Amino acid sequence: MSSGIFISFEGIDGAGKSTHIARVADLFRQAGRVVVLTREPGGTFLSEKLRELVLHEPMDSLTEALLMFAARREHLVQVIEPALARGEVVLSDRFTDATFAYQGGGRGFDWQVLGQLEGMVQALPDSSLRQPELTIWFDLDPVIAAERLASARVPDKFESQPADFFAAVRSGYARRQAEMPSRFARIDAAQSIEAVSEDVSRIVTDWLSRSTR
Ligand code: TMP
Repeated sequence: MSSGIFISFEGIDGAGKSTHIARVADLFRQAGRVVVLTREPGGTFLSEKLRELVLHEPMDSLTEALLMFAARREHLVQVIEPALARGEVVLSDRFTDATFAYQGGGRGFDWQVLGQLEGMVQALPDSSLRQPELTIWFDLDPVIAAERLASARVPDKFESQPADFFAAVRSGYARRQAEMPSRFARIDAAQSIEAVSEDVSRIVTDWLSRSTR
């Protein structure tokens, strides 16, 4: 049986990542793999309920961080770990880097406390941490992202934040990449959709040729 593969997709709101996840799913399906497409916060019945709360209700920043991790715990236990154990490919629209970027970078919440929560929530039986093997970061100037979002849907609690919030979120992603460079691949999301799509395919194909899966 093939080993499971866990890939996450990250970026500030408006960076356009969601468009490209389906393409990555196709790449894996064409290679004969079973793909689980999922998202955070969300991915389970309970986690989707927590998503509704956390995206629409004002709350204290620790409460917000705890709810993100609570949703993640359910998602890991109910969906991600079982799929990886079956040898499937899990593609998650956001994972734990989003908490470091949004709650840590954007809200200014204590980075070390987030690390402690991560240690609790993502611990595996052998004491290592569950992390995506590959994280594709769609990096975009917050001013361009705001222009893209202005013509899109009704904004949620995060999407309606000002540009300097997203500048801080972007710095949070950069800090996370600097801490864990081996699993991060940064894409310049200001390029055309076609160019971004080509970058995504190349990154995934190169990663697969280097990994033993
Ligand atoms: P989405 O719109 O990409 O589905 O993401 C939902 C929003 O939740 C987005 O604005 C980012 C935010 N978010 C956090 O603030 N912390 C997290 O840990 C996650 C996963 C998402």
